[in-house]
Amino acid sequence: MPTPLLAVRGEIIHFTADPATHGAAAHEHLPDGLLLIAAGHVLRCGPTAQLQSSLPTDTRHLDYRGKLILPGFIDTHVHYAQTGMIASYGEQLGAWLEKYAFPAERSFADPAHAAAEADFFCDQLLRNGTTTAMAFATVHPAAVDALFAVAHARRMRLIAGKVLMDRNCPLELSDDSAAAGDAQSRALIEKWHGRDRLAYAITPRFAPTSTPEQLRRAGQLFTDHPGLHLQTHLAEQRAEVAWVAQLYPAARSYLDVYERHALLGARSLFAHCIWLDDDDRRHMAAHGAAMSFCPTSNLFLGSGLFDLAAADRCGVRVGLGTDIGAGTSFSLLQTLNEAYKVLQLSGQSLTPERAFYLATLGGARSLYLDDKIGSFAAGREADFVVLDPLATPLLTHRMAHATTLAERLFVLMMLGDERCVVATHVLGEVAFTARY
Ligand code: GUN
Ligand code: ZN
Repeated sequence: MPTPLLAVRGEIIHFTADPATHGAAAHEHLPDGLLLIAAGHVLRCGPTAQLQSSLPTDTRHLDYRGKLILPGFIDTHVHYAQTGMIASYGEQLGAWLEKYAFPAERSFADPAHAAAEADFFCDQLLRNGTTTAMAFATVHPAAVDALFAVAHARRMRLIAGKVLMDRNCPLELSDDSAAAGDAQSRALIEKWHGRDRLAYAITPRFAPTSTPEQLRRAGQLFTDHPGLHLQTHLAEQRAEVAWVAQLYPAARSYLDVYERHALLGARSLFAHCIWLDDDDRRHMAAHGAAMSFCPTSNLFLGSGLFDLAAADRCGVRVGLGTDIGAGTSFSLLQTLNEAYKVLQLSGQSLTPERAFYLATLGGARSLYLDDKIGSFAAGREADFVVLDPLATPLLTHRMAHATTLAERLFVLMMLGDERCVVATHVLGEVAFTARY
């Protein structure tokens, strides 16, 4: 028996192109729209007045009138094992890793701890309207299993991988050898990659914590399996860039270390990308690599200001990352708030349309998933978030005199957070609900 149609009614907004290049034609706005879903996928969306009369009688109806319906948010860079040490005081990257991140990750040697944390992490994603994430696990294969298992049970789309580290890290977090880390990655790929909505990302932490041999093996794996993703960190802080120059003196730049090891390509995603030059950016664009802009993290660790205009000028794919636990919020709305401020500090503006594009279709494009998620185009997986633009007294007060869609979206991204998330749907079905 085919499942009945699901018709979701509300104010619908989604993007089919980048507002930076396509202007107002990039988005579709339906003040009173219906999102029609069949078997977890978008059949179509359109004005309620047009679609309502032709629906089959057994259609299931969901009424979110007064709320905004957007494609589920996409977090392109996050560390699930750092949820427990978010908001740890007073250090920049090197000391922060030693003092907070590595100790937190050590406790993921215990599979029971990893399972509990994975559960809490996925709860946090969903209650913030995030339906897809690209996540670092830890070096422990069982911690990768734990995260994939939880996401699988919730039918979420997730990309994750085992962290590779074989130097400059605590002994308990070090791969026994480059070969051992490689073998563990391959076993996890066999187990999880391509299973329902899960995909594997080869995950060398960053150049300083891998030997050239480990990076070489990671590049070989990436080359051997064209469908795999790759995630790492790049040019986050100036001291880190200087360290990489010492460790890899023959490389032209930090990016060049990765390029020399065949780690640059379609489906490779690099977090931060602050201290780059345009040569680097052009190489990234030419290889189809993507950047994750992580504003809350970049401000929190004092890393620097991401240059979106330069990324655009060079044609690089960009998504947004919370980078929990250096980032300070799971909310993509709060991430947009700080993205706006980071760009203001460089004299750049982030329009509200571009902002919500980055949180949805832009993220999907940076992960090469835009044929599956990121918009409500027909055939896409029906992951969506329902937002209450009047969730708080201040939002209500301010929205009373917001006149345009752009103004309302801007107020939402500046004043909104998880309190605005009324419900999050995965493949059409409710995965989180606040009070509906
Ligand atoms: N660089 C290498 N590892 C990390 C990490 O865990 N967090 C951040 N923000 N940067 C990193
Ligand atoms: Zn990170």
